[in-house]
Amino acid sequence: MAKKLIIANWKMNPETAADAVALAKMAHVAGKAAKGVSLVICPPAIFLADIAREFKKVPPASRPVLGGQNCFWEKAGAFTGEVSPSMLREVGARWVIVGHSERRALDETDEIVQKKATAALKGGLSVLLCVGEGSRDEHGEYLHVLEAQIRKAIPELPRKALEKVVIAYEPIWAIGARALGAATPEEVFSTTIFIRKILTEVVGKDLAMKMPILYGGSVDTENAAPMVAHGGVQGLLVGRESLHPKTFPVLLDLVGKVK
Ligand code: PGA
Repeated sequence: MAKKLIIANWKMNPETAADAVALAKMAHVAGKAAKGVSLVICPPAIFLADIAREFKKVPPASRPVLGGQNCFWEKAGAFTGEVSPSMLREVGARWVIVGHSERRALDETDEIVQKKATAALKGGLSVLLCVGEGSRDEHGEYLHVLEAQIRKAIPELPRKALEKVVIAYEPIWAIGARALGAATPEEVFSTTIFIRKILTEVVGKDLAMKMPILYGGSVDTENAAPMVAHGGVQGLLVGRESLHPKTFPVLLDLVGKVK
């Protein structure tokens, strides 16, 4: 049985490198203990090197898998404040989150998302491509939003690297401290069927069936396992709950036990 993929998105937390290292150690130990889980930790880019350094002496296979939360599409140059995919790799990242709604809210367009994903794949990173609607209506209009986000990103990506793409379905209304609450497994299940249908049209059936889809938005110890069991998803993108040293290990353990 394939392991469930859990991506911990710390966003702009914690405040110090020492806290980031401590949090990463905790998450890594818990991730290893939860046998059915494969964990990717995405700290702020500034702390990636500190975390990677901490695990330098252990064999590569025993190190935590790290990711960035964003990247730029150029390799280098006059782009103040940006970080390239190769720079992320250099400090230990193997993944990057692209198109998170909190970045789309800062005017990141579908075109930018596509350029970032392309650059990340070319730079050797796996990509977590986030899609999600702002609100859900009875008539299914929100599905057009998802469809457009997928159609504008995926066909342009380098075909050979598509196996390194994972989709995160993150309804915006379910994300963060002001969320209405998590989506239900039933809502997510029907949406993942729709996403797979669009993926099938875009990349063909074989790849579309293999491409993992994660759910994100207000995931906690209560809803994580039911979501993986009944939501048609192969894992979760976890924000706030991944910062809690007491409950995140519980979440990983519960998800790891889902058959
Ligand atoms: P949340 O964030 O779990 O805090 O709602 C999820 C995300 O945005 O990645």
